[in-house]
Amino acid sequence: MIIGVPYEIKDGETRVAMTPNLCRRCVKLGATVLVQKGAGTSVGFTDAAYRAAGAKITATASKVWRGADLIVKVKEPQPSEFKYFRADLTLFTYLHLAACPDLTAALVKKKVLGIAYESVEGRDGFLPLLKPMSHIAGRLSIQTGAYFLQSQNGGSGVLLGGIPGTMPGRVAIVGAGNSGAHACRMAVGMGARVAILDLDARKLEMIDEEYRGGVVTLMANPGNIEMAVADCDLLIGAVLVPNAKAPTVVTSAMVKKMRPGSVIVDIAIDQGGCIASIHPTSHHEPTYVKHGVVHYAVPNMPALVGRTSTLGLTQVTEPYLVQMVTRGIKQALAEQPGLAKGINTQDGLVVNRQVARALSYK
Ligand SMILES: NC(=O)c1ccc[n+]([C@@H]2O[C@H](COP(=O)([O-])OP(=O)(O)OC[C@H]3O[C@@H](n4cnc5c(N)ncnc54)[C@H](O)[C@@H]3O)[C@@H](O)[C@H]2O)c1
Repeated sequence: MIIGVPYEIKDGETRVAMTPNLCRRCVKLGATVLVQKGAGTSVGFTDAAYRAAGAKITATASKVWRGADLIVKVKEPQPSEFKYFRADLTLFTYLHLAACPDLTAALVKKKVLGIAYESVEGRDGFLPLLKPMSHIAGRLSIQTGAYFLQSQNGGSGVLLGGIPGTMPGRVAIVGAGNSGAHACRMAVGMGARVAILDLDARKLEMIDEEYRGGVVTLMANPGNIEMAVADCDLLIGAVLVPNAKAPTVVTSAMVKKMRPGSVIVDIAIDQGGCIASIHPTSHHEPTYVKHGVVHYAVPNMPALVGRTSTLGLTQVTEPYLVQMVTRGIKQALAEQPGLAKGINTQDGLVVNRQVARALSYK
């Protein structure tokens, strides 16, 4: 098997899909690994380190994509990469197709076998390849939000922790899953007053238990969301319906009631976003102001901490990759139903029900 590791070209991306250690393991198991020149440089993995691990360093993206059977990436392919798609190519990466109709059409047209990290399922239905990046995005959402609350960054000038004698900042988090729970942990750590909302009562019970009532937990019905949004300085969108377009849980009318200079960080933007007034931004232009509120919606937040994110991501992709190298892709998919759940496109079809529904495919 020939595995290709391209340089990530999404705006501001710093992660790489394979560390030199993982590369060494794949090579030992018999794979040839093509790493595009400079692919790991921004996170401290030099070409020399990959070479020492047995990789072949290739000068161009074209050589990596065209020379490999299996492309291992971090972010969804960008339009300039669609030209490399072909019928005998397997792609293992985040795809987020419900929010990417053009990418979906290109994968379907060229009959690429597209295995999406975010759809791979663990034994009890959890999403093992999404989890570490959600933890990172959740934690980052608070430090990013705190930064944009600063007066010089267009924010209202609220310090989340406050000081003795002043009110601390208020944080509202919609979604108490992996990203929401980690946002909660950071916000509490910074001394903010936190309210967290979810439709799943068990998630709220867990938060209540963990913080012994120190965090307000609320059922995510429209009345509670409206109240929490109007009351907060920093709003975090952290909902997920796996594979589907994110539901809009915060309306524009609710955003209009926020205090001027308040901040929204919509982590769920990679699935289309869960705030009505949101649209994707980038690391180069991370925010815009609408209804007097600062909106931040970068779909690849973990790139801000590329070293930690690369290590966090590759530690969970490693077992699947090893399985594909040792058993072959077809056999690995047959033997591991959880990995097979990751298939989003195959033989010119969209095979994930939620993606098909979101984009009106059969
Ligand atoms: N922007 C980024 O850089 C980045 C990075 C990592 C993850 N993400 C994204 O963050 C989102 C959340 O991921 P996660 O791992 O935390 O998901 P998760 O499944 O762990 O948690 C999502 C939570 O949303 C809740 N939920 C669903 N619908 C709801 C609704 N209508 N109202 C209230 N709560 C609702 C669920 O009950 C669940 O608890 C996903 O879209 C994921 O892809 C984005």
